[in-house]
Amino acid sequence: MMTVSRRETRALRSSDDVVRVRQAVRQWAMAQGFSLVDQTKMVTAASELARNTVDYGGGGNVLLEALNEGSRRGLKLTFSDQGPGIADIELALRDGYTSGSGLGLGLGGARRLTNEFAIDSTPGGGTRVTITRWQCGDRR
Ligand SMILES: Nc1ncnc2c1ncn2[C@@H]1O[C@H](COP(=O)(O)OP(=O)(O)O)[C@@H](O)[C@H]1O
Ligand SMILES: [Mg+2]
Repeated sequence: MMTVSRRETRALRSSDDVVRVRQAVRQWAMAQGFSLVDQTKMVTAASELARNTVDYGGGGNVLLEALNEGSRRGLKLTFSDQGPGIADIELALRDGYTSGSGLGLGLGGARRLTNEFAIDSTPGGGTRVTITRWQCGDRR
């Protein structure tokens, strides 16, 4: 049975918020027993998604959830905004695609750095991106 041992929502409106969320994710990953490499992977993915929430989503929030399933521990992050949404999710996921001035590697990178990745977005209806990483990075 999977349980959520800790849950917290953080605002994402500014670059300062992105920095704070990076720090929070680092701390939560550490508390969940992640190795330094696993911590950094989750922080990197979170940083990209937090940036997108601020830059493209017009701000929003992130829900942090510490997961326990038996002896395995994980971290789930849900980024939500009420922005314009993503019309073509497949295109947005493609490496090198950006509608702004980025490198277009954020979404694809976040997907590769995590064990579970999901985007729920509708034009005009905002965007929700969920990522989960487990302490044992080889499990999928
Ligand atoms: N929260 C969001 N709301 C609306 N569009 C988004 C959001 N996140 C990503 N996108 C779209 O997906 C594209 C690709 O995102 P990403 O891979 O992070 O690259 P970049 O940030 O460099 O543009 C963005 O350029 C944008 O068009
Ligand atoms: Mg990005």
